[in-house]
Amino acid sequence: MPASPSANTRRLAVSAPPDRFFGYYPGTVAVITASSEGDRNVMSAGWHAALSAEPPLYGVAIGRERYTHRLVVASGGFAVHFLPFGAARSIAAVGSTSRRTGVDKFERFDLATEPGAVLDVPILQDAYLAYECRVQVVHETGDHDWVVGEVVAVHHAPEAFDERRLQHGRDVPATVYYGRSRYESIGSGERIDFSPDAFRDVER
Ligand SMILES: Cc1cc2nc3c(=O)[nH]c(=O)nc-3n(C[C@H](O)[C@H](O)[C@H](O)COP(=O)(O)O)c2cc1C
Repeated sequence: MPASPSANTRRLAVSAPPDRFFGYYPGTVAVITASSEGDRNVMSAGWHAALSAEPPLYGVAIGRERYTHRLVVASGGFAVHFLPFGAARSIAAVGSTSRRTGVDKFERFDLATEPGAVLDVPILQDAYLAYECRVQVVHETGDHDWVVGEVVAVHHAPEAFDERRLQHGRDVPATVYYGRSRYESIGSGERIDFSPDAFRDVER
């Protein structure tokens, strides 16, 4: 069905080819950990996505120059964490410093960890949700690699979710990244719940 003409005369500005690639923010930011042969590391990642429910797969774009990249590839595992807004400083810190300089970011930024349940990977205790992932495929995508992991264990803070597994956003607000080192808390804004039947008539 053709789109109906819009009364809106506003036009989006276009740059083609793009002079600056943006538009992928704001978005929730993840924190990635990995370890190999006694070495361990942690970095932030804004480019990440759930890819499949059965089997459970999660993807993250990791620059090949990241120290974390080599640990992920060497060990075949990584963990994806979601930290509440109260931990925004930790997210900014681990995303602005590299293990290449020799710094142990867990010590330097006071990040408590516990061992993974299935994989040899550090789990951040500040997280309200964490996925342990076994690397399934590393796909080269431009200047990053898209690392796909099978989720083999999920850690969650029970107080962060209700009985429908919806996050208690007001009590445990998620962290959104805007770009340019700006972070925002989400969970206290306007909220709307639609009935699962809300659009059923459309398909009749
Ligand atoms: C909010 C935020 C999001 C980021 N997203 C990504 C990302 O998706 N992929 C990536 O490779 N680097 C990303 N980075 C950059 C890395 O986290 C950063 O280069 C880090 O220093 C890498 O650490 P490492 O060299 O110790 O692994 C992000 C940084 C920040 C602050």
